[in-house]
Amino acid sequence: MSQPLITLDFLDKAPVADALPADVRVSAATRTGRARKLYIESYGCQMNFSDSEIVSSILADEGFDTTEDLAGADLVLLNTCSIREKAEQTVRMRLKQINSHKKRKPGMLVGVLGCMAERLKSKFLEEEKIVDLVVGPDAYRDLPQLISQVDGGQKAVNVLLSREETYADITPVRLNSNGITAFISIMRGCDNMCSFCVVPFTRGRERSRDAHSIVQEAADLVAAGYKEVTLLGQNVDSYKWASEDGTERVNFAQLLERVALISPALRVRFSTSHPKDITDEVLHTMARHENICKYIHLPAQSGNSRVLELMNRTYDRPWYEERVQAIRRILGEDCAISTDMIAGFCSETEEEHQDSLSLIDFAQYDMGYNFFYSERPGTLAARKLEDDIPLEIKKRRLQEIIDRQQLHARARYARMVGRVHKVLVENFSKRSQEHLSGRNSQNQVVIFPKGTFQKGDYVNVFVTSTTGGALLGEAVS
Ligand code: SAH
Ligand code: SF4
Ligand code: F3S
Repeated sequence: MSQPLITLDFLDKAPVADALPADVRVSAATRTGRARKLYIESYGCQMNFSDSEIVSSILADEGFDTTEDLAGADLVLLNTCSIREKAEQTVRMRLKQINSHKKRKPGMLVGVLGCMAERLKSKFLEEEKIVDLVVGPDAYRDLPQLISQVDGGQKAVNVLLSREETYADITPVRLNSNGITAFISIMRGCDNMCSFCVVPFTRGRERSRDAHSIVQEAADLVAAGYKEVTLLGQNVDSYKWASEDGTERVNFAQLLERVALISPALRVRFSTSHPKDITDEVLHTMARHENICKYIHLPAQSGNSRVLELMNRTYDRPWYEERVQAIRRILGEDCAISTDMIAGFCSETEEEHQDSLSLIDFAQYDMGYNFFYSERPGTLAARKLEDDIPLEIKKRRLQEIIDRQQLHARARYARMVGRVHKVLVENFSKRSQEHLSGRNSQNQVVIFPKGTFQKGDYVNVFVTSTTGGALLGEAVS
C-alpha cells in the first residue's frame, strides 16, 4: 500500500466485514434518511481520502447517505491507488470479495474511482466484469450523470483530466472525522516527472486552488470546532494562485500565513514538501507562527546524486543536505523531518544504497515511509531504464533503510523526554479509556492520564518516558 501523505493514527476505527489492510479507510455512516446507500473505501494517499469526502458531498446532493455496511449498500465505490503494483493488487482482490456481496444483492452497483481508474480507463471494464463505473480524479462532478447511465443498464466511464478542476466550491462531507483534525486539498496534479512515479499520469497537470476558498474552508472548520488543518498537495511549495485580474498573487508561504492567522487556536500542518522547491520564506513563516506545526515531510527518495538524477528529482545530495541545514538553522533542532526512500531503484549499486543510509544519519529523520522500487507501466523509468535489482536485494536494502531509520526515530523520541509538550488531544488512547492520545507540534504521539481533559483540548504534558513510538507523560498546569 502507498503511504498516506501524512500519518493517521485513527484509521483503524471503522468496523469492516472482510479483512482489510490497516491503511484502507471506510467511510463512516451519515444517517440523514436519504434513499440510497453509498459505501466508499479509500486506498493510497491522503489526497484520495480527501477526494472521497468530495465525492460523498456530490452524492449527498443526489440522495445518497454513506454507510459502513458494504452488504447493504446500493452503490460501492473504491477510490484506488496505482503508486506501486501491490496497491493495485489489493484493489483487485477486494473486487473479488465485493463480487460475492453483489451476488447476494444483484442491484448493487460497483464503481472504481481514483488513480487506478485513470490509469486503466475503460480497460477496467474488460478486466473486471463486476465493475459498472470507472471515474478518474477530475471527473467526480460527472458522477450523478454517470450513475444514472448505470441505473439505465449501461456501463459508464469518464476519465477526462482537467487543467482547471479543483472542486473549490464543494464543501467536503467529513468522513471518519474525529471532529478535531481535517484535511484541505490546496492543489491537484503534479508537474514534476519523477521517473518512477505514476502520479503525473493519473492526476494530470498541477493546478492551485483559489486561496480565498481555502481560507474560507479552514475558517468554517474552526467555526465547527476543528483545531487542526493539514494543507495537502503533491508539492505544496509550488502552490501558486492568482486572481483572474492578476492583481492578487499568493504563493505557499503566503497561503500558510493566511491560514495560520485565522486563529491562534488552529494548528496548521502541510504535506508534501518537495526538496527542490521548499523555500526559506516558508521556513521563516513557520518560525513566525507558533501554530504552524514544526514538522516537515521532505521525501529524499535516495541519498545518492547519480540515482537522484536517474529519478529525475532535479536536486542532488548537497542540495538536499543544504535544505536540511536550512530547516535546522531557521527552525532549530526540534523541528521534525520525515522522508520517503526508495530501495533498489534501477541500477542502484551497493555503494549508492549506502549513501541512502548515510543521508538518513545526516538528516536524523523522525519518521520514514520506505518502499522498494516497483516499476509502473508508462513511467519514464519503465520506458528508459531496466528494473534490474533482484527482489531479494531490494528487500534487503529496504530492511536496512527501515532499521537505520528506526534508530533515529527512537533517538528523536528519547530527546523529547523530560520536557513539557503542548499536545492537542485527538482521542482516547487505543489501549485505555483512562488515557488520552494527542500529538505535539512535531507530530509525535503523546499519551497521558485523562484527568478532566477531553478531545480538542490543548494540554501541556510533561513527558516522563517513551515507548520508542509514543511519548508518555502527565498533564501539568
Ligand atoms: N509527491 C510526493 C510523493 C507522492 S508518492 C513527493 O514527491 O515526495 C509517495 C511516495 O511513494 C513517493 O515519495 C515515493 O517514495 C513512493 N513511490 C512512488 N512511486 C514509486 C514506485 N514506482 N516504487 C516505489 N515507491 C514509489
Ligand atoms: Fe510523483 Fe515526483 Fe510528483 Fe511526487 S513530485 S507526485 S514523486 S512525480
Ligand atoms: Fe495518491 Fe496513490 Fe494516486 S499515492 S495520488 S492515490 S497513485
